[in-house]
Amino acid sequence: MAKTLNALATKGEHGSAMMPIIQGVGRAGVEISYLLRGAVFRDALGAAGGENVQGEQQQKIDLLSDEIFLEEMRSTGYVCAVGSEEQADLQVVDEYADADWIVLVDPLDGSSNLDIDGPVGTIFSIVRRKSRGTTPQESDCLVAGNEVVAAGYVLYGPSTMLVCSVGEGVDGFTWNPNSARFELSHANMRIPASGGYYSVNESNADRWLGGVGESLQRMKTETGLGMRYVGSMVADMHRTLLKGGVFLYPADETNRTGKLRLLYEAIPMAFLIAQAGGKSMTSADTSVLDVQPEALHQRVPVYLGSSSAVDSLLG
Ligand code: AHG
Ligand code: MN
Ligand code: MN
Repeated sequence: MAKTLNALATKGEHGSAMMPIIQGVGRAGVEISYLLRGAVFRDALGAAGGENVQGEQQQKIDLLSDEIFLEEMRSTGYVCAVGSEEQADLQVVDEYADADWIVLVDPLDGSSNLDIDGPVGTIFSIVRRKSRGTTPQESDCLVAGNEVVAAGYVLYGPSTMLVCSVGEGVDGFTWNPNSARFELSHANMRIPASGGYYSVNESNADRWLGGVGESLQRMKTETGLGMRYVGSMVADMHRTLLKGGVFLYPADETNRTGKLRLLYEAIPMAFLIAQAGGKSMTSADTSVLDVQPEALHQRVPVYLGSSSAVDSLLG
């Protein structure tokens, strides 16, 4: 019989403690995948009319996915709070405010792909709260990547996949609609040491800060990598993990500290890439995993991928 998400229970120091939460992520992923499939029939596509705390227009599906995710985390009984890209403040789960774990989430990543039936995803990480016993505060979730206990993403593509690490390698599970389970389809994923693609919104090249344009040209010459860009970090990182290469979103004149969110996007993906044997940098000398978060919605530049490609870019 195929292995399911429970295969993670025996991995890492906290695999078994993570299981109820990861099962909850799996349930949320399935619900969101159904939401996406039926969205056009339920008038669920398009703008919701509001902005999130970062001034970005929210799509109806951003908000619905956020609700689904929060509800599934609440139902685990092990999550005291959820920090979400779509919520200005940390969402405390009142019934379990003394639980140990905080989940950070980008409920719907790549929402510009929604109108074109392109791939989107959900990104999450799980951290142990810093304080104990009292109602959790924002400061409880400001945990650096090297202290994250588990992280992963759900990719809503032609199939729905949950890719996850509990700190002992990376495993990929594919939703099997016949068995109604996530089945282990990609055991112990390792990022290829060379080859693959570079992935970046190159239309920003003229506005990149810090000479990234020249570095990219040099890397292209050195490695001969081809280019792919979906515009959904989950889809772009999934390809990078499987095929190798580098995904980058540098700082630019508009996004002077980068565009991608440290807690919901950069850290979970950096954690996975490191667990898969790759490199996760925010600058030439600092790993994303060493950045000490200072605010819930902080942004950072990212350079994630095969060590050789990242080194060629930042070297
Ligand atoms: P979100 O939809 O959660 O706001 O994330 C969008 C992010 C990420 O998925 C992607 O890598 C990046 O924005 C794309 O940005 P550009 O459109 O600027 O290339
Ligand atoms: Mn995102
Ligand atoms: Mn999002």
